[in-house]
Amino acid sequence: MTETSSRRILLVAACALIDADGRILLAQRPEGKSLAGLWEFPGGKVEPGETPEETLIRELQEELGVTTKVACLAPLTFASHSYDDFHLLMPLYVCRRFEGTAHGREGQAVKWVKPKMLRDYPMPPADEPLIPYLMDLL
Ligand code: C5P
Repeated sequence: MTETSSRRILLVAACALIDADGRILLAQRPEGKSLAGLWEFPGGKVEPGETPEETLIRELQEELGVTTKVACLAPLTFASHSYDDFHLLMPLYVCRRFEGTAHGREGQAVKWVKPKMLRDYPMPPADEPLIPYLMDLL
């Protein structure tokens, strides 16, 4: 048995929202949550019965007031990271077509960031390895 296989697997879907200027939206994890203060690609836990796309459509609306649809979510890559108490699997989607002005509906800070500036924002360890894939894309 590998170390990873003894851990609970958590499936989280994440999304790189990209605006007309090629900037990417980062959201800051709020106080009181794990990894508070770090900047992440928005998204959330895939609930039972949901596809990752359905999770993102729900979470982008709940967290950011942004509306999108499955046809506008393109899978880019997958994060796979072992935290102390679980192993995180996190598909990253790219979304360039959405409606609404993104704002932190749960009090979290949000920021549109140029690709070359992404490394200036401290991220959870699962999110950071995703940056080169976005740099290649943009
Ligand atoms: O956002 P939430 O707290 O529900 O996510 C569960 C866990 O998944 C977090 O505690 C964090 O360890 C991880 N996570 C992450 N990167 C994200 C979202 C969540 O590493 N973009």
